Amino acid sequence: MNAPSSNQRILVGVSGGIAAYKAVVLVRRLIEAGCEVRVVMTEAATRFVAPLTFQAVSGHPVRTTLLDAEAESGMDHIALARWADAVVVAPASADLMARLANGLADDLLTTLCLATDAPVHLAPAMNRQMWAHPATQANHARLIEHGVTLLGPAAGAQACGETGEGRMLEPDAIVDALLANDQQDLAGRHVVVTAAGTREPIDPVRFIANRSSGRMGFALADDAARRGAVVTLVAGPSTLPTPARVERIDVETAQQMQTAVESIGVTDIFVGAAAVADFRLAAPVDHKLKKSGETLSLELVPNPDIIRGVAERSGRPFVIGFAAETDHVREYAAAKRVAKGMDLICANEVGPGKGFDRPDNALLLLWEGGERELAQADKRHLAGEIFDTYHQITQDRDDASS
Ligand code: PMT
Repeated sequence: MNAPSSNQRILVGVSGGIAAYKAVVLVRRLIEAGCEVRVVMTEAATRFVAPLTFQAVSGHPVRTTLLDAEAESGMDHIALARWADAVVVAPASADLMARLANGLADDLLTTLCLATDAPVHLAPAMNRQMWAHPATQANHARLIEHGVTLLGPAAGAQACGETGEGRMLEPDAIVDALLANDQQDLAGRHVVVTAAGTREPIDPVRFIANRSSGRMGFALADDAARRGAVVTLVAGPSTLPTPARVERIDVETAQQMQTAVESIGVTDIFVGAAAVADFRLAAPVDHKLKKSGETLSLELVPNPDIIRGVAERSGRPFVIGFAAETDHVREYAAAKRVAKGMDLICANEVGPGKGFDRPDNALLLLWEGGERELAQADKRHLAGEIFDTYHQITQDRDDASS
């Protein structure tokens, strides 16, 4: 079997227990698999293994306290929580599980587990009777309800001399479990994603814009990067943070977006999630327009169609576009896909409370000879489904041509 590999950023939490020494091997294995690792220890964990050991193995300073002014002035705890693609606490003691199950944030590690939106995994390690205790089992069930993944525990000889369930999983098993679903199925591909709306200036202080937040496009860029792609995100104005390992080019107008997309050149996959203004002012004025009558007419001219331009390239990439429709969603999207030369279109119904500027959405994916409905879900989940569908389409094409 091949060793698992990944470029994930993993936050390893170590709580107090004799199995803390195995966490050193875990950090080492994760780094060997290609992950970037930061370690956070509880105060009790530092009694078992010195932070310096983890610092030497991970190559980064180890954080142990929440109220550390010096550390907080670097990567503060919220930034650390956001930095992680995944959190794994190994060993997770009965006390740590109890605190987390109850939502306590009384030290750095529990605070990070609450503050992160990355998946949290716990590898419990404790005496067999502590593990079997109804309180621990209730905490276990509650943590699962909260979306935490439990890795183990295993059964066998315990450090206390007893035998039973409660041993921490071996580091290799934890690494396998952590990286099992880490598809690197876009490794070696260059993915360009456009995101957010464009702004078309009227005068130096006013512009034509739309309600796109960038969430969909940023989620796509993030998912592609997690799958190992080299990702360039061409983003209209958005307050969202740049996803890890994504190169971001900020633009404002449709013409700037087109120039940026063209400057990138050859790509493997192009995803047009941006809400690009179809029109811009024929002649934006260079001074603030004064109110000079009851009405104001603005002359608009069409903007370049960015996605169509990409689809018309020789050696074109696989082109994924969106259709934002208020009605006749399927019909308009199907026609748009063909007219713009897309391989796959993701149609969404937009309007008050739908599609734009919210964390979730529902999509209808259409491609030649196929379709897939994606029920209302977080845009991060939808992004994964879109790339899974890309794989399905390319696989079907390969099968048909062989
Ligand atoms: O950003 P969020 O708040 O998360 O909202 C997500 C979204 C609603 C913006 C997204 O799901 C979406 O639908 N994006 C496309 C919006 C849009 O402009 O749709 P359209 O039907 O007008 O355009 C069709 C396609 O052509 C799109 O892929 C668009 O990027 C592209 N296009 C449009 C005009 C233009 N001049 N150039 C283009 O490339």
